[in-house]
Amino acid sequence: MSLKNKIYIDNIPKHIAIIMDGNGRWAKKIGKNRNAGHKAGSKSVEKVVEACTELGVEALTLFAFSTENWNRPKIEINLLMKLLLLSLNKELENLNKNNIRFKTIGDLDRLPKKVQSYLKKVSKETQNNTRMTLTLAISYGAREEIINAIKTIGDKVKNNLISLKNIDESVINQHLYTHYLPDVDLLIRTSGEKRISNFLLWQIAYAELYFTKKLWPDFSKEDLYEAIINYQKRERRFGKTSEQVN
Ligand code: IPE
Ligand code: IPE
Ligand code: MG
Repeated sequence: MSLKNKIYIDNIPKHIAIIMDGNGRWAKKIGKNRNAGHKAGSKSVEKVVEACTELGVEALTLFAFSTENWNRPKIEINLLMKLLLLSLNKELENLNKNNIRFKTIGDLDRLPKKVQSYLKKVSKETQNNTRMTLTLAISYGAREEIINAIKTIGDKVKNNLISLKNIDESVINQHLYTHYLPDVDLLIRTSGEKRISNFLLWQIAYAELYFTKKLWPDFSKEDLYEAIINYQKRERRFGKTSEQVN
């Protein structure tokens, strides 16, 4: 029996974010090169997007490439860019068919021009879709995102567009790449690593964290269901007492 039947449909996390890790180790385990791992990883993306859409998740944010990943060998970076183009090309039709809005966050200027223009095209052609928002974090780093927000806000203060005393959480939210998204409810990281690696530092302030040993290419729909079931067993108190939230 699928674990799907154990999910309470009235308590689905609105925003799921995933650090998709372990492609390289997956490939190594079966004697293949890292590229094979990344290819297999893109299949997991398709499955997870489908599962989230079916469950009624409002927002899914996937960490595909970090600012730190620019330090990887050029040959691996090039392959990842190529794979990204291939997947986007393949998925555009599906995104529209399933009413999924596609967005990106990160420093896109660093990406090859062809990738940039393709990302823009897919975002534009899916912008009116309403069932789920799929955000790909590419060339993304949370610290960079926060620095950019501070610079923009500082500039606005200087030009009297915002007054210092009015800076609050909502002002910060509005200046992050993720301004269109709610806070993260559930953060998943695969591959057994228990770290955040500069992903959505501000937005995960009250997220439930879920770590699994599964390597990303092995992560299936059932694994996602398991993560959601685990999430649903937790009591989110947001600083209050258990009595208050019950
Ligand atoms: C995640 O898998 C994908 C990216 C970071 C692009 P890794 O490539 O980090 O795989 P491991 O951690 O080496 O196994
Ligand atoms: C984090 O994975 C970034 C992505 C999943 C895209 P890494 O595998 O690069 O993370 P670290 O550097 O090992 O923490
Ligand atoms: Mg890794």
